[in-house]
Amino acid sequence: MKGIVLAGGTGTRLHPLTHAVSKQMLPVYNKPMIYYPLSVLMLGGIRDILVISSPSQIGLFRTLLGDGSSLGISLDYAEQPQANGIAEAFLIGAEHIGDDPVALVLGDNIFHGPGFSTMLHDEVKNIDGCVLFGYPVKDPERYGVGETDQRGHLVSLEEKPARPRSNLAITGLYLYDNDVVEIARGVRPSARGELEITDVNRAYLDQGRARLVDLGRGFAWLDTGTHDSLLQAGQFVQVLEQRQGVRIACLEEIAFRMGFIDSAACYALGSRLAKSEYGAYLMAIAGADH
Ligand code: G1P
Repeated sequence: MKGIVLAGGTGTRLHPLTHAVSKQMLPVYNKPMIYYPLSVLMLGGIRDILVISSPSQIGLFRTLLGDGSSLGISLDYAEQPQANGIAEAFLIGAEHIGDDPVALVLGDNIFHGPGFSTMLHDEVKNIDGCVLFGYPVKDPERYGVGETDQRGHLVSLEEKPARPRSNLAITGLYLYDNDVVEIARGVRPSARGELEITDVNRAYLDQGRARLVDLGRGFAWLDTGTHDSLLQAGQFVQVLEQRQGVRIACLEEIAFRMGFIDSAACYALGSRLAKSEYGAYLMAIAGADH
């Protein structure tokens, strides 16, 4: 399966923070925001990933993340010239996707919860249609909203409805079979002039091939869309990391634990950052025998 991280958008709600730099580059506690969604793809075992961002920002992401080889993955980069909507990722990424299924994650979405990696692995294994991940929120009108029947099957999908039919937000992680490229080609711009991901998902729903996985209330899906929620997301990561002594979305650690790199490589990555706690952590988890 291929992966795409979409780090587009103009981040207007976060001005002036996002005047010069993309939202997905902002810090969430001790890492740039894009580390979190990238870690999700890696936890799902996805190693061939395209990062999409605006022409002015794409070079910064390349500087930050490189070609991925030090993490045992492959990272490629593509430009989204205008904020034409999330579904455009499949048109820009068509060549990268090739004949494979694809996972798309939005560059500002933060997921954290028990068993997430195992669940992703299971879902990624045999995709037929699309898999969406729902999460209960108190302000569903800000998101794509899914409505389910009594058996938990998806019956409707709406983008930012004024009167939501449920409190289930559709999160920014989507798994698709290869049909998504053709489906995205058929999507027309919405009233706000964007190719909506919800229209892609609705096409699958109409075919009876959209599945919803409810992440449930024990899970954390964090928002970074406003100054307050951005700060709160950072505080959430800080609290968990300091309490447990582990790191959330530490790409080098994930690469090591997933077997993408060995302990010597993990140690070497840590030693390059030895002056920061981040580097010391990497050296420690790589083991004492280096
Ligand atoms: C986008 C999608 C929406 C989804 C959300 C998740 O909204 O359009 O369906 O629920 O991401 O973060 P946007 O971030 O463009 O407002």
